[in-house]
Amino acid sequence: MKTVIMKYDRDHKDPGVMEQAGRILRDGGLVAFPTETVYGLGGDALNPRASQKIYAAKGRPSDNPLIVHIADMEALKVLAREIPENALKLADRFWPGPLTMILNKSDAVPHETTGGLDTVAIRMPSHPAAYELIRSSGVYIAAPSANTSGRPSPTLASHVEEDLGGRIDMIIDGGRCDIGLESSIIDLSVPVPTILRPGYITRAMFEDVIGHVDVDPTIVSDSLIPGQKPKAPGMRYKHYAPRGDLTIVEGGRQAVAAKINELIALRESQGRRTAVICSEETRNLYRCGIRETIGSREHEESIAANLYDVLRRMDRDGAEYIYSESFAGAGLGTAIMNRLLKAAGHKIIRL
Ligand code: TXA
Ligand code: MG
Repeated sequence: MKTVIMKYDRDHKDPGVMEQAGRILRDGGLVAFPTETVYGLGGDALNPRASQKIYAAKGRPSDNPLIVHIADMEALKVLAREIPENALKLADRFWPGPLTMILNKSDAVPHETTGGLDTVAIRMPSHPAAYELIRSSGVYIAAPSANTSGRPSPTLASHVEEDLGGRIDMIIDGGRCDIGLESSIIDLSVPVPTILRPGYITRAMFEDVIGHVDVDPTIVSDSLIPGQKPKAPGMRYKHYAPRGDLTIVEGGRQAVAAKINELIALRESQGRRTAVICSEETRNLYRCGIRETIGSREHEESIAANLYDVLRRMDRDGAEYIYSESFAGAGLGTAIMNRLLKAAGHKIIRL
């Protein structure tokens, strides 16, 4: 299959792009498109064959449900069996934006889209390309992140092409995604609202709107707790992993740098290719061939925005042993570390 790549420029719009993309979606095809979080791989959410194609293109297990993207509140009534008060409050504050809500699904949503579950994940993205695509296609768009299953999520169209070129009909290239981490997911189908995946919208931001929320314990723990499975099926799988062996080193700045330099010296003496993931503030502390600066510790947003691109660059650099600083923090740090720990298979040295 030839994958058509079309540019999207929010300041100079070409209506032909969205018309063509909309037609592909209505015909049951697949279109990758930018959102404010990461690129999505879109198909018609109410067409079971389109959902099956999404799983096939990504190589994703079909029990891992998809998020349905909408452009207006009317869509909620079509997709959800009932709409809890908390959903309306959260939509009012955070939609359109990087928030996904889990609700009981209506009969309109096929089980192919929800991975067999009776609940459905719904999100109203704020990126204008996503909005225009939903509008021009006239369908609700099921869209997981547009990466091959297990690889870092795509934050550039070139990442999508790397993974899915030749396997999907079209890629809409809207440049770099602003946030760079997938949406926060909150389950509202249970008695106490529960965060299933941390993201740009933090626990404190949720609690400010709807009061107490729980956090799925598996997203904050270092290792899987025996007998406890993450409630978002996708959080169960190994994810975001570069091909090299990634270890996180956490502690004071100087101690971390000393430890990483020691590990680098050891691996290099064995003839192995090493790399460091560091911040602007600490870059000069390392003696390493490959130093990838992920962003500034003063701006957690910059670290989130670059994380997946840096993990992909590790593969391009051919790094065999990768050492990363920790970027734990109260706000976005939770989401950043959730992804980084997964990428490292939870390998962390605490000093
Ligand atoms: O920011 C995002 O959410 C991006 C963009 C494209 O919108 N999408 C995204 O989709 O990250 P995906 O498929 O990569 O991640 C969806 C996650 C998975 O972990 C999945 O298991 C979970 O949402 N999920 C979907 N439906 C669910 C449901 N009904 N119950 C629990 N978890 C669900
Ligand atoms: Mg994903």
